[in-house]
Amino acid sequence: MTDPDIRARAAAELERTRARSRVLTDAVDDDDLVRQHSALMSPLVWDLAHVGNQEELWLVRDVGGREPVRQDIDQLYDAFKHPRSDRPTLPLLGPAEARAYIGTVREKVLDLLDSVPLEGRPLVEQGFAFGMIVQHEQQHDETMLATHQLRRGEPVLSAPPPPASAGSVTGAALIAGGPFTMGTSLEPWALDNERPAHQVHVPAFFIDRAPVTNAQYREFIDAGGYEDRRWWTDAGWAHRQEAGLTGPMHWFGDGTYVRFGRREPIVPDEPVVHVCWYEADAFARWAGKRLPTEAEWEKAARHDPASGRSRRYPWGDEDPGPQHANLGQRHLSPAPVGAYPAGATPAGVHQLIGDVWEWTSTDFHGYPGFSAFPYKEYSEVFFGTEYKVLRGGSFGTDAAACRGTFRNWDYPIRRQIFSGFRCARDPLPGEAV
Ligand code: AVJ
Ligand code: FE
Repeated sequence: MTDPDIRARAAAELERTRARSRVLTDAVDDDDLVRQHSALMSPLVWDLAHVGNQEELWLVRDVGGREPVRQDIDQLYDAFKHPRSDRPTLPLLGPAEARAYIGTVREKVLDLLDSVPLEGRPLVEQGFAFGMIVQHEQQHDETMLATHQLRRGEPVLSAPPPPASAGSVTGAALIAGGPFTMGTSLEPWALDNERPAHQVHVPAFFIDRAPVTNAQYREFIDAGGYEDRRWWTDAGWAHRQEAGLTGPMHWFGDGTYVRFGRREPIVPDEPVVHVCWYEADAFARWAGKRLPTEAEWEKAARHDPASGRSRRYPWGDEDPGPQHANLGQRHLSPAPVGAYPAGATPAGVHQLIGDVWEWTSTDFHGYPGFSAFPYKEYSEVFFGTEYKVLRGGSFGTDAAACRGTFRNWDYPIRRQIFSGFRCARDPLPGEAV
C-alpha cells in the first residue's frame, strides 16, 4: 500500500471501529453503562474510556508527540493496576465525560494522521500503531459484547440471523505430515505474538471438518459426560466439581439458552459456545479424540499443500468477506455448520475463522525469535502454562482483529468468552501414509 492508502485505511478503520463501540454503548442507559454486570467484566464505561486512553498513550503522545489530553486518568485505565472486579469502585469518568474524552482523543488522532511520518520508527511503519489501536478497540468491543451477553434485562442488541447451512459437514480431514510455515513476518498489522514466521514440523493428523455442535455436545451431556471422572483431567474435574458445571454457560435444562437477553431454543447444528477448556478437553476424550495443538490448527487453516506455502486465511489470501466467515457482530450467534462453504480450506475444513473461538491444547508461549513489540504487557507477561491458546475468532470478532495467524488466550476455566472447539486425532496405524 502507498502512504496515502495506509492513512486512508487507518482513518476508515478507526471510524468503522468507533461506530461499533457506539452501538455497544449507546444501546444501554447511563445506569447500565456504569454498572458491573459480572465480576468477570468491567463496567462498559470503563472499556469505553480505556480504549480512548490507549489511543491517547500510543497515538496522541507517542506517535504524535502531542501534549496529553488527560494525564490524570492514566492509572484508572491501566488494566494492570486494577483487576476487573475492582473497576466499579474507581472514580471513573462518567458516561458523558468518557464519550467526550474519547471524542477529543480521536479528533487529535485524525488530525495527526494527516501529517505524522509513517517511516523512521518500527512503531509507525505501514501504519502499525494505528492498526494496533484499531485492533485494541475491536478486542474491547468483543469484550463489551460478552458483557452484553452477561447482562440481565430486556434485549437491546439486534441483528439478522446468520445464513443457513448449505449442506452438512461431517467427518475429519487428513492433514499430511511435514513442515509448514507458522506465524507471519509479513502481515503489517500482525501483533508481536504472531511473529516471526517459522517452520514447524507437524506429524500427520485428522482434524474435524466442523466445530463441535450443540447437538453433539448435548450427546456428551446425555451420556453422563459431566458425571464421569474418566473424561476429565485432575484440574478439570476439580473445577467441574467446584463450579458445579453441568453444561455450557447460558444453557437451561429445558433445551433453551439465553442470547443477549432472549430465551431461545438451542439450535442443534450451531457450534457450541461458552464452554471452558476443561469442558472441551473432556468432550474430546469422551469422543475418542483430542483437542488440536495450536500448530495443527494453524496448519489446517493456512497450509496449502499445492504450493507448499501458508496462506492468510483458510480460503486463500483475500480479506474476509461476508461469504467467507461469520465475523464482526454481523449476527448475534454462531452460524450453523455448513453455512460458509466459500470459507472452507481446500481439504474441506469449514468455519475455522469466525463463529466461535476454538480452544487448542497449547499453552500460550512466544514463538522462536519472539520479541515484545511495542510493549511487554500485550503478550509477553501472559506467556507460560496458565493460559491456553484459542484460534479463529468468533461472530463477535472483527476482521481487523482476526487473521489466520491471530492468537487469543485465556484461562482454562473461562467461558464467558465466545469459546467453542473442534476435535482432532492421531491417525491409526496404517491410516496415513
Ligand atoms: C488478547 C483478548 C486476551 O482482552 O485481555 C485488550 C486483548 N489486551 N487490552 C484481552 C487486550 C489489552 C486481550 N486478549
Ligand atoms: Fe485493553
